[in-house]
Amino acid sequence: MSKTWRPATQLVHGGTLRSQYGEMSEAIYLTQGFVYDTSEAAEARFKGETEGFIYARYGSPTNDMFEKRMCGLEGAEDARATASGMAAVTAAILCQLKAGDHIVAARALFGSCRWVVETLAPKYGIECTLVDGRNLENWEKAIQKNTKVFFLESPTNPTLEIVDIAGVAKLANQIGAKVVVDNVFATPLFQKPLELGAHIVVYSATKHIDGQGRCLGGVVLSDKKWIDENLHDYFRHTGPAMSPFNAWTLLKGIETLPLRVAQQTKNASKIADFLAEQKQVARVIYPGRADHPQADIIAKQMTGGSTLVCFELKGGKEAAFKLQNALDIVTISNNLGDTRSLITHPATTTHKNLTDEARTELGISPGTVRLSAGIEDTDDLIEDFAKALGSIAS
Ligand SMILES: Cc1ncc(COP(=O)(O)O)c(C=O)c1O
Repeated sequence: MSKTWRPATQLVHGGTLRSQYGEMSEAIYLTQGFVYDTSEAAEARFKGETEGFIYARYGSPTNDMFEKRMCGLEGAEDARATASGMAAVTAAILCQLKAGDHIVAARALFGSCRWVVETLAPKYGIECTLVDGRNLENWEKAIQKNTKVFFLESPTNPTLEIVDIAGVAKLANQIGAKVVVDNVFATPLFQKPLELGAHIVVYSATKHIDGQGRCLGGVVLSDKKWIDENLHDYFRHTGPAMSPFNAWTLLKGIETLPLRVAQQTKNASKIADFLAEQKQVARVIYPGRADHPQADIIAKQMTGGSTLVCFELKGGKEAAFKLQNALDIVTISNNLGDTRSLITHPATTTHKNLTDEARTELGISPGTVRLSAGIEDTDDLIEDFAKALGSIAS
């Protein structure tokens, strides 16, 4: 792996580990364990005196390739591949905290992430304060003597709010806390949290990294010291490891990440502009548009728009359902980052467990719809929306 490789090269060649057979495509090492020539060799491996794998829950060659490729892309020193994005989020947060510690998190989080900090962590004596993450003052005001972790996603799901990552990192550094960023919506191509000062980055690799609706996966990335001191033992002993088969699938997926994300972003941006002109649409939120309420922070910390578009229909839930049902190409699904364009109604799916009040706080109304743009032809997608919007009385 070369440090000078640009992302497109890194994503095809980074981390490749060839066996004695010289296979072109990465091998899948579907093995639970590893064998040793002698008892002394086993002892040395367990003592950490020799390099090598011990047990697939700890690490294995295909996963190692995936982790190294992700490290190269992210500019991280080390990583651990997990079975899902939620396994990555949970591990990244819990591995570094103990009873009596305090988390400050943005309230605009993916539902399961919010459950981890709001419901799960307090069961183990870890307090959590949720804030409107758009305003740095709110982060500062929530700091307590025992604050150890700041947790955020940016842009957020589904209303594409932005958190100033460098600003939060500055506050965290003043008190020796760690910033964990869920970078799923931005993708590793458009936002580099570690360069902005965050300490830990997590992904649901299920989204853009696979990007073809095949398997679940996640990854936690950070510096070697943090991983050695916090994640290493947690990961070995609680067992969130990714299957080597999924690591292989994700290695294939990630090769085409820049191509897919470029086409998805082009489609998302064109559809956002089209929707903004339609009489049935009350508002469009898209990080690549000048009318995004936080366009200044976007310009500071992101190098691309988004593959996602959030918009609100004037006709509320009825209009949202009619639109979704009338689309032919765009498919109803709560997944995102896929080659297929996917649409979802957050109030009745991804965010249905929130109270009406919490949804209102997050800007999710009955008419809010989230689109994840795929790689289809842009004109076909716009024609699909034009036709489906025609089925809604304005
Ligand atoms: C922002 C965000 N974080 C984490 C996750 C969880 O990922 P997974 O479904 O791979 O566990 C999701 C899934 O939708 C997500 O959107």
